Amino acid sequence: MHPTTSIAALCATIACLTLAAHADPPIDAAKIAAGARAYDKFCSTCHGEELVNNTGVSFDLRRLHANEHPRFVHSVLNGKNAMPSWQGKLTDEQIDSLWTYIRTNAYDAQ
Ligand code: HEC
Repeated sequence: MHPTTSIAALCATIACLTLAAHADPPIDAAKIAAGARAYDKFCSTCHGEELVNNTGVSFDLRRLHANEHPRFVHSVLNGKNAMPSWQGKLTDEQIDSLWTYIRTNAYDAQ
């Protein structure tokens, strides 16, 4: 094979693998954006700007795993120690979009 051809083929393969790695789960950009806005407004003071946990006081939300949705909803609705309850303050839709936003940026999302 001509060297240029094989490099092109290799690059195409890498591009394809990169796309495949990001293809699942499907991304809902509007929902992620809504979650990011809610996060910025209600959560970032304690959990850090853009989920970067640098306030030193609380839980790094990017640690949550896909199967911890029930734990997430429970903690958000009921609070936990210094973490306030959001019952009646956030809509189900907001809580749902927060989860989507957090999961999109989770350590195990890639
Ligand atoms: C006043 C500060 C504060 C705000 C605002 C806040 N949190 Fe927290 N959050 C905490 C603290 C502190 C913890 C650690 C609680 C513990 O384990 O003692 C925590 C923990 C959590 C946990 C993990 C609880 C568990 O299961 O261990 C979740 C999930 C969470 N917060 C979500 C949110 C979301 C979503 C928002 C915004 C709607 C938010 N938090 C806003 C302080 C806050």
